[in-house]
Amino acid sequence: MQFSTIFLSLALATSALAKGGKGNSTTKAVTDKSLCKEMKSLNKLVELASNETRLADKTNNNATKIASIQAKASEASVTLATMEANTTLTMTCSVMAAAEQTKDDCEDITDMTKLIALAANETALAAKSNGNTTKEDNIKAKAVKAQTKLDALTSNTTLMSACTEIAATKAAKKAAKNNGTSTENSQAATDSTATGASASASSSSKSSATRTVFTLRENFGFVSTIALVIAGMLVL
Ligand SMILES: *[C@@H]1O[C@H](CO)[C@@H](O)[C@H](O)[C@H]1NC(C)=O
Ligand SMILES: *[C@@H]1O[C@H](CO)[C@@H](O)[C@H](O)[C@H]1NC(C)=O
Ligand SMILES: *[C@@H]1O[C@H](CO)[C@@H](O)[C@H](O)[C@H]1NC(C)=O
Ligand SMILES: *[C@@H]1O[C@H](CO)[C@@H](O)[C@H](O)[C@H]1NC(C)=O
Ligand SMILES: *[C@@H]1O[C@H](CO)[C@@H](O)[C@H](O)[C@H]1NC(C)=O
Ligand SMILES: *[C@@H]1O[C@H](CO)[C@@H](O)[C@H](O)[C@H]1NC(C)=O
Ligand SMILES: *[C@@H]1O[C@H](CO)[C@@H](O)[C@H](O)[C@H]1NC(C)=O
Ligand SMILES: *[C@@H]1O[C@H](CO)[C@@H](O)[C@H](O)[C@H]1NC(C)=O
Repeated sequence: MQFSTIFLSLALATSALAKGGKGNSTTKAVTDKSLCKEMKSLNKLVELASNETRLADKTNNNATKIASIQAKASEASVTLATMEANTTLTMTCSVMAAAEQTKDDCEDITDMTKLIALAANETALAAKSNGNTTKEDNIKAKAVKAQTKLDALTSNTTLMSACTEIAATKAAKKAAKNNGTSTENSQAATDSTATGASASASSSSKSSATRTVFTLRENFGFVSTIALVIAGMLVL
């Protein structure tokens, strides 16, 4: 039952993409990053369509709009199933998402540390708030909240060393750029560790992307064909 459902979904996806009206214009660089992004937005659409509350909210309860979103989501779920069948891709996406999360956490740590320092410095606080005590109190209240989150983040030693590496990589890159030539130092820093490297994966994938140029339709076709063969074998 389940296999035939997958089989049907894939068959539909293949034919839908084969017809693909606007498919011709998709001859552009397809990167892992762009595919992950597409999966994320397809997922969002499917999620939205399955939430009556959000649907009604978003459409002002317009039945036409709701039906249109649901129709799009129905197509999206088929495409999504095809893409998710590629475990290499889904794994790459989770690695990228984790690296992105790490980078965001490191930025949060920097921002929250600054905010807390500001709140603790009466001189700086007064200057920032133009002596408005309401503003000062708002900043202080935010800082108290931030402290809890900051403590949670900084207690993670894995995260802390990843942040140190990311900062080092950034500094090395900046230094190399200022020097005109890329130095061995900066290369070493770039390659340093898995975490640091994957955190910068998003930027490096851009350059590899320019090399790997293929059409979206070809890629889907390939995925579907392989998946169809596998699904076919499973049915037997
Ligand atoms: C598809 O693209 C090719 C080459 O870019 C072009 O010759 C052809 O007319 C396009 N077909 C459609 C239906 O747009
Ligand atoms: C639907 O959306 C509402 C509002 O955004 C949210 O509170 C609720 O948890 C969602 N329900 C489900 C089942 O995801
Ligand atoms: C509902 O949305 C459709 C499509 O956007 C629009 O044409 C129609 O006027 C809307 N109906 C109402 C009652 O607002
Ligand atoms: C407080 O802020 C002022 C002005 O920004 C700065 O000059 C001073 O060094 C800060 N004091 C401390 C203890 O950080
Ligand atoms: C102080 O800041 C608050 C919040 O931003 C604002 O509503 C209020 O008008 C300000 N008071 C003065 C005296 O500027
Ligand atoms: C600690 O940080 C790492 C790197 O960001 C993350 O993968 C891990 O899940 C975090 N651990 C906890 C307990 O949050
Ligand atoms: C920049 O270049 C100078 C001389 O070429 C070198 O001595 C220095 O170490 C370089 N700095 C960095 C950060 O690579
Ligand atoms: C699966 O995704 C990876 C990464 O995007 C890609 O290199 C590979 O060709 C895909 N596999 C298939 C069978 O399409």
